[in-house]
Amino acid sequence: MASRVTPLLFRSGPRALRQLQRTQWRALSATAPSRSDSLMVHRNTPGNNPSIPFKFTAQNEELIKEILARYPSQYKKAAVMPLLDLGQRQHGFTSISVMNEVARLLEMPPMRVYEVATFYTMYNRNPVGRFHVQVCTTTPCMLRNSDAVWKACQDYLGIHNGETTKDGLFTLLEVECLGACANAPMVQINDDYYEDLTYDSTVALLKALRHAAEATGAKPGEAGLGTKAGTGAVTGSDPGVKSGNEIHEQGRAYEAGGVKVPTPGPLSGRKSCEPAAGLTSLTSEPWGNDKLRTDGEL
Ligand code: FES
Repeated sequence: MASRVTPLLFRSGPRALRQLQRTQWRALSATAPSRSDSLMVHRNTPGNNPSIPFKFTAQNEELIKEILARYPSQYKKAAVMPLLDLGQRQHGFTSISVMNEVARLLEMPPMRVYEVATFYTMYNRNPVGRFHVQVCTTTPCMLRNSDAVWKACQDYLGIHNGETTKDGLFTLLEVECLGACANAPMVQINDDYYEDLTYDSTVALLKALRHAAEATGAKPGEAGLGTKAGTGAVTGSDPGVKSGNEIHEQGRAYEAGGVKVPTPGPLSGRKSCEPAAGLTSLTSEPWGNDKLRTDGEL
């Protein structure tokens, strides 16, 4: 028996060894895993559990009627997202009671509503501060120094990712691309985009929002969505659209509680997303259809 197996071992052993040498070995990635900062499941807390009643206000009930009218009655569950959004705006965050109420109104199994609310990160399933500061750090913003914006937020607010300031005014969150890459780096604060930011303009913006909120009597922990609506009357002190440095020096702002708050949009002096360094082409008077020569002969 041994004499029959031995030649086989001699033949297959070196072949296996050669194959092992040819095998390409790749090191495992050493990138640090980025763990989510929020649970995708609900845990009852004193401030967020199904026994806390939630009802839409009369005004929002009217809006719900409008929203439902957009869909055939047998497909009213299609309204789940706008209704969750409405609930979040009314309640300050998308609590389990908000989700249950939406499920009841749309005659859906509550689990189907939970699935939607846990999938989309725009639904805040925990309370956020009055100003929900979302800093984009995806590549285009990162290349235009979103690190400075992120640092400015952490330095000024004294909080880190996912945290809320003790006065309940600010919640800070690092997010992926918000679709305003042409005006990078930028932050979203509640419903507003502030763009073309630097370290200094970010700190100035946060300071203005804090002072405006204090001047208009923000309650600690009060949730609010919509920066202007949350900080008081807009007095229309916007000097209008002017060009380049003029805006930068004057600053486009609205007044809230006597505090000048920059209006949403680019804070660099740009009007929109035109070239930051000014026009580089099509700078001369365009020729009309009737003009063929610059000497005016034809
Ligand atoms: S990368 Fe920041 S808005 Fe797109």
